[in-house]
Amino acid sequence: MSRMDWQSRTGRPLHGEIVVPGDKSVSHRALMFGALAEGVTHIRGFLEGEDTRATAAILGTLGVRFDTPAPGERVVHGVGLHGLRGSTDNLDCGNAGTGMRLLAGLLAGQAFDSTLVGDASLSQRPMRRVTDPLALMGASIDSADGKPPLRIHGGARLKGISYQPPVASAQIKSALLLAGLYAEGSTEVIEPHPTRDYTESMLKAFGWPIEYSPGKAKLEGGHRLTAVDVDVPADFSSAAFFIVAACVVPGSNVRIKGVGLNPRRTGLLAALELMGADIAVENERSSGGEDIGDLVIKYAPLHGVALPLDIVPDMIDEFPALFVAAAVAEGMTTIRGAAELRVKESDRIASMANGLKACGVLIDELPDGAMIRGGSIGGAHIDSHGDHRIAMSFAVAGLVASAPIVIADCANVATSFPGFVALANGLGFDLSDSVPSA
Ligand code: S3P
Repeated sequence: MSRMDWQSRTGRPLHGEIVVPGDKSVSHRALMFGALAEGVTHIRGFLEGEDTRATAAILGTLGVRFDTPAPGERVVHGVGLHGLRGSTDNLDCGNAGTGMRLLAGLLAGQAFDSTLVGDASLSQRPMRRVTDPLALMGASIDSADGKPPLRIHGGARLKGISYQPPVASAQIKSALLLAGLYAEGSTEVIEPHPTRDYTESMLKAFGWPIEYSPGKAKLEGGHRLTAVDVDVPADFSSAAFFIVAACVVPGSNVRIKGVGLNPRRTGLLAALELMGADIAVENERSSGGEDIGDLVIKYAPLHGVALPLDIVPDMIDEFPALFVAAAVAEGMTTIRGAAELRVKESDRIASMANGLKACGVLIDELPDGAMIRGGSIGGAHIDSHGDHRIAMSFAVAGLVASAPIVIADCANVATSFPGFVALANGLGFDLSDSVPSA
């Protein structure tokens, strides 16, 4: 058993106010646009996670200077659209699909060659979804059968395209828009379902002309980015574990402060409300163009639902947590239309189904989802498959399990949620390093 195995046990009712770390999607983008801008960008609320630090380290290798006045802050000394310097070093994205796919778009338009690599999980994730449309724009990228490493040949003359991605993916859209900054003519992305629009809103804030509406974005190459300060909201996807935890532990009452409430992220709230949850949004306000607010969650008994298909893309990272809510809810929850879960940091349908089965939950795995019969959760030893969101979801399951849940391979929680264990225990979890059996 490695040191990063956890044991999660029933704690007390969850009570208190917490702030979760900064949004991962916004933090990656703020670094990239800050780097390509003219002037100095001050980022506050930056996620000090391994994923976003990997992106900062790559941009540093490419000649961008960063200062860290305090944890959660970065001052980015922009080098301008054409100011990056090439490097023959492998550019290591770690575990981060967002880092790799967005950087593929950004680097496709540079004058120099680059090689993007990732960890064992990222090295198995599909990259053709970005390299194919980038090739249509004129980029030259070699991959290992559609998987990392990505060898990006510099000096390509990119031209804009109009592209309809086959899957709803903010990463695909963002990669193309980043390449579009360097392309001749206009680059347009028309999505099968609207996805998070942080790339579009940040481009606008950095002064790049862009037309966008839900599901559509269009820009032209040849403009410039001007530095602007970025306030990163707290990450809804990190809040999700505590939202579900407070929904399922009797007697809980939790406030999560200043959470980003971009409508393309909050499908979990709609899903839990359909299941009977008691969640209120208070202090709603706007920060840096994004809606934020406090979430106040009180325990309420949940019941199963057939999840409406149209909320699936709006809660794509929250499914592992929802599986736990469904395992506790009375009756059957049916999840369909979520095949994308199979190509995340792990195959999240299989990871959750196998883990919940080990805990005695009745669950049928479907190609694009699962049918989960709620009831009681038992103790078990489960494997997170090195996937941060699987590890945190089973930490929540342990709160209501009849015996401890031991979760193997939790180190990658640091990719998105540094400090999770301390924050969780402060709220009433009983989460500890697992003691190896003799
Ligand atoms: C992200 C988009 C989503 C999400 C990921 C972050 C982004 O991925 O799962 O955690 O920042 O653009 P897809 O675009 O693959 O759906």
